[in-house]
Parts: sequence; C-alpha cells; structure tokens
Amino acid sequence: MFELNLQGIDIYGEPPKKDPERQYYYIAKCRDYLKKREEELGRKLTYHNETFGCQMNFKDSEKLNGVLEAIGYEPRDDEKADFVIYNTCTVRENANDRVYGRIGYLGKLKKTRTDMLIAMCGCMMQEPTAVEKIKTSYRFVDLIFGTHNIFKLAELIWSVYEEREQRKKDPKLKKRMVIDVWKDTNEIIEELPSSLKYSFKAGVNIMFGCNNFCTYCIVPYVRGRERSRKPEDIINEIKDMISHGVVEVMLLGQNVNSYGKNLEEPITFAELLRRVDAIEGIKRIRFMTSHPKDLSDELIDVIAESKHVCRHIHLPVQSGSDRLLKLMNRHYTRDDYLKLVEKLKSRIPDIAITTDIIVGFPGETDEDFEDTLDICRKVCYDSAFTFIYSKRTGTPAAAMPDQVPEEVTSERFKKLLEVVGKCSEERAKLLTGQTLPVLVEEENRTEDMLTGRLDNNLLVHFKGDISLLGNIVNVKLNECKGFYYIGELV
Ligand code: 5AD
Ligand code: SF4
Repeated sequence: MFELNLQGIDIYGEPPKKDPERQYYYIAKCRDYLKKREEELGRKLTYHNETFGCQMNFKDSEKLNGVLEAIGYEPRDDEKADFVIYNTCTVRENANDRVYGRIGYLGKLKKTRTDMLIAMCGCMMQEPTAVEKIKTSYRFVDLIFGTHNIFKLAELIWSVYEEREQRKKDPKLKKRMVIDVWKDTNEIIEELPSSLKYSFKAGVNIMFGCNNFCTYCIVPYVRGRERSRKPEDIINEIKDMISHGVVEVMLLGQNVNSYGKNLEEPITFAELLRRVDAIEGIKRIRFMTSHPKDLSDELIDVIAESKHVCRHIHLPVQSGSDRLLKLMNRHYTRDDYLKLVEKLKSRIPDIAITTDIIVGFPGETDEDFEDTLDICRKVCYDSAFTFIYSKRTGTPAAAMPDQVPEEVTSERFKKLLEVVGKCSEERAKLLTGQTLPVLVEEENRTEDMLTGRLDNNLLVHFKGDISLLGNIVNVKLNECKGFYYIGELV
C-alpha cells in the first residue's frame, strides 16, 4: 500500500504548513516520542480501535490504524491497550448508548494504567451535545475529534503527548482534553498511510458526505456536504492495492450515484465504474450505497456489460408508502422504485437486490406499513436491513407530529422481518446445486470451515485449506441454510 517515507524530516524544525507533509512531520515526531517511551518502559506500546457503525466508519478506521501503526503502536484486540480509540456512530440512538455504556469501562481501566490514552472520534463527536456530555461526565478522555479531520490524527496525538508532558513537569496543572471538531470541510487529503483489515479486499472512498437530507437522517449533519475524489486518485489507489494483492474493491459513498458532479471536470459514477472495471488484475467490484432517485440507465448498462462488477445492488427503499416517501424527502414514488427494479431485473436477470427499510417513521399508519410489506413482497429482496425509526435531534422528522408508539413499531417490525426473511430464503434457494465462484474471506475455526462470498454477496461455508484465503475458487452449493450455503470445493 502507500509507502510512507519519513526520511529526511527534521522533527525539531518548524512543521510544514501543507498536508499531507505536515502530518508526515507529526507522525515522525510522535514516532520518536513513542520509541523513547518504549525504551523507558522496556516494552512495546499498543493500540485498540473499536469501530461502530457503517462501512464508511470501518474505512476511516483503516486510515486511523494506518497512522497509529506508522507512529509505532502495535494492534491489540482488547481495550487493555496504551491507546484506545472509539470510532463512533450516531445514525440511531442505540449507537450512542452503546458508546456511553463502554466509556465507563475505559475509565476504570485507566485508573491502573498510567500510559493509557483514550480518544473518541467519528459521527457522534460531530454532535455538540455528545462532546459536552463527555467533557463533563468522562473527563478522563484525552482526545476528541470528528469526521472531517481524521487525517490530522498524528498532529492531534502530538498535542496529547505535549499536554501529558506539561502535567508531568507541573503536577499542579489540571488535565486538559484536546478537542478538535470541524463543522465541515472541502479538503480531501490524499497519500496518508492506511492499514487494511483484509489483504485481499478493501473499501475505497470515492466521495464523502451527503446532500440529500432525508428527513430522518443525521448523516448530512455529521458528514458534511458531498465531495468527490478525483477519478485519477481513485484509480491510482486501486492499482496500488492490486499490486499488493487486493482482488476485490468496494467503492464507498453515501450516494455513489451522484459521484463526480462537483468535480472540476465532472464525470458520472457509471464512467468511473467503467474505468475501474478496466484496471488490470481487478477481479471483483462492489459499490454502495445507491440512492434510487439517481440511478441512471447508463449505470445499469455498465453493470450489465462489465466483466468484474458484482451482480448485486444495494438500493435502500426505506418505505413503500408514497405519503411517507414524500415526508422522508426521498424524491421517488413506489411506482418509480418498482419500475427501476423491473429495469434492473430485465437487463441483469441474475442481479441480487438488497435494501434498507425503516419502520415507525412519524405518522406511519397501518396502511403505510402495509404498502411497505407489499413492496417487499413485490421486489422480493435478497436481503434487507430493517431498522426501527430512531428520533435524531436536529433532523426535520424529530419535530414531526405523531411519533409512533413503541408497541406499534415493534409489532410491525416483527411482521416485516417475517416477510423479508421469507423472500431472502426463497431467493437464496434458487442457487441450490449450482457451482459458482466464491471469494474465500475467513477461516471459521470452530466449524473447521472456510467462509466466502458469492458474486451476489451470499455467504458460503465449505471445507478447504486456509491457504485458499483471498482466492476465488469454485464451490458447489449443496445445501441452502436460509441466509447461507453449505458447499463443497470442486
Ligand atoms: N432511524 C432509523 N434508521 C435510520 N437510518 C438512517 N437514519 C435512521 C433513523 N433516524 C437507516 C436508513 C439508512 C441506513 C443506513 O440507516 O435506512 O439507509
Ligand atoms: Fe442519510 Fe439519505 Fe444521505 Fe443516505 S441518502 S446518508 S439516508 S440523508
């Protein structure tokens, strides 16, 4: 992956003004500090990153981990590490609750671990109320930053080291939390280290932020306005990944279908996909998420004609009721959506369609909910992520009348699970007996099996040697277990 060169950096000189050079300077400075500390302690220092939420956050964590490893921290699986970072999510209230539930535990650990540093970042930190709560109730936290300045991690860690050193020299000083949260940004800083979770598949950001303002959703407020990376930066990153053994990339954006609109030389997502498909050595391309309102015929053609784009599209419907879709600010009707699905299915007959659905949006009536069940039956999704509506302060829906009582939503939620579960099983079963390519992704030690994914994203378990990890192999799909297959290598 991107090779970081710290040679020739004068860590005692002035920091460069420009990024990413400025960050290389701070990485080198932190690295020097950490080495000295390791010599004093006579042991290696470790980090632990706990990531909550979506693919975007997991991708951000690969970047955070890349910087932490460049500084010299070694990864550790639990929170008994010297640097613990929580990359938080705030898309639903329970994501916040999970974070608060765990920070207390970190405080207990810190009491006996003098070198321990605690950092909080991610979407939840973009909310002033969350930062305020941490400032008052969890004062042992050392660093808070948001989603727009993760590239600054080394510089921020340097501030934390400085703060700690000042207190060591003057014990009367009160502990100061380093807080740096930006409201928004236009900047995209390329060429920083990244530590990939898998050596053979990787997410690639193609854009950041969201301009859609669906009325229930907090993402546009915490991830800022839409901005696209230049196609050449994306292509070069993917080529570099491939030269290091990556075979599958997942192009990431909150709404990939509006990729490229704000670039100096605008380009469509379909065109980007065409260019990625032509990269030598690429085996599989995935992308998410597609907003139905922006899915073009050109894109459908590219998926159909491409060699490496997987036959899978994640197309969040959110609701099947026209009345609610309007209140949600989704800009399509159920009829538009169904026509789009028809177009996809007729042009790409083996395509798998997955979705997100919200139950209990304010004002949802039995009739609205029936419309949602009906659209699920009609599309017959390969799988669906189902969510109970969660009120996010600051979003328009939070102020809407007729919030639906919990007893009603949980009853509807159960019904929805039944309907989408039945369809998923029905769809999955269709492949029984076929032999299809599978990317081997994990070893399942307890079952003594390998786990991989079909082009359409379904999981397959089968016996095989661990040396197959990262390879695409042919597997006969013997038995459908609902959401996955038991197969055999052929
Ligand atoms: N409540 C419940 N689900 C939500 N999502 C986004 N905001 C909310 C909310 N306030 C769901 C949407 C989106 C997915 C990532 O999360 O379905 O597509
Ligand atoms: Fe949220 Fe809508 Fe943007 Fe998706 S498209 S991130 S649901 S505002």
